[in-house]
Amino acid sequence: MTEVAFTPRVFSGIQPSGGLTLGNYLGALKRFAKAQDQGIETIYCMVDLHAITVWQDPEKLRHATRELCAGFIASGLDPEKSILFNQSQVAEHAQLAWIFNCVARMGWMKRMTQFKDKAGKNAENASLGLFGYPALMAADILVYHATHVPVGEDQKQHLELTRDIATKFNHDYGVDFFPITEPVIEGAATRVMSLRDGSKKMSKSDPSDMSRINLTDDADTIAKKIRKAKTDPEPLPSDADGLADRPEARNLINIYAALSDQSVDQVMAELGGKAFSEFKPVLADLAVAQMAPISAEMSRLMQDPSEIDRILANGADRARAIAAPILKKTYEIIGMVGA
Ligand code: TYM
Repeated sequence: MTEVAFTPRVFSGIQPSGGLTLGNYLGALKRFAKAQDQGIETIYCMVDLHAITVWQDPEKLRHATRELCAGFIASGLDPEKSILFNQSQVAEHAQLAWIFNCVARMGWMKRMTQFKDKAGKNAENASLGLFGYPALMAADILVYHATHVPVGEDQKQHLELTRDIATKFNHDYGVDFFPITEPVIEGAATRVMSLRDGSKKMSKSDPSDMSRINLTDDADTIAKKIRKAKTDPEPLPSDADGLADRPEARNLINIYAALSDQSVDQVMAELGGKAFSEFKPVLADLAVAQMAPISAEMSRLMQDPSEIDRILANGADRARAIAAPILKKTYEIIGMVGA
């Protein structure tokens, strides 16, 4: 097989399953905006087909998809520069996912930790879609021949599976057709933790609202949540090494570093040795200054849902123009008549 050079192209997705958190912002949205502004082609998707792998109320799903789109734009994604769309409008995702269902092996899927976590004790009652979720995710990425995928740490295993699927497809059909995608998991905030428990990921599904900052929280709520965030009794250590066994302190420092675009070492040089009573107000001010305008912009955008629908439809047209020829070529490779 000859090596094929693929043009750099960034793809990533977020589920419209209700509510964006600071984890989504720092681990994904803020980094998506950075990639866009580096002049690489960027494609970002509201993955509504993934959301329905667990039950979604139809009205809430529609609302969450529009709100997610508002969250993208409010976080700096420009629908002219990036392609923004919802997955179900581009049928090629589901079509390629079927092919990948036939490439991926049961054993690979059974090893996915996110399936085990989400299915919980009652895996027999989980939807087949939840089990096949990572094959659809591989299709999202590979239907654009995307080369780079910025995500948080929790998606790493899914991206390894995407590489396995591309490799097996290329090998089975003797082609160099799908790129072996690079996960981009960089920066201080690839795993933002709960504000109540430094060993748990910050998540929209945590029963405690105090555990997370929502992108829709107002300034007072953001400041209160940071003031009440769990800490330990010691002051901050003098350097990054001292954060090793202090998950809550490490999390707040990581959040500060990501919000202020600094490395953890830079932050420790500025704030090392301070008491939490001094550090927390500084962090709260920074979080409010950065997050409150996003929340205000989201509410403004949500006042005009038809404009959001227009943006999504336009993005879907642009996405389809890239995906359709790649799917057609895939059909040809696998021997579908009429492709
Ligand atoms: P989702 O919707 O759970 O999360 C969207 C993005 O936010 C990141 N993230 C976090 N990052 C840091 N700290 C956290 N606490 C945190 N919580 C969430 C996630 O890592 C992710 O980057 N399966 C994906 C959606 C998806 C996708 C794709 C992603 C579908 N197809 C193709 C990339 C490429 C998911 O459920 O993300």
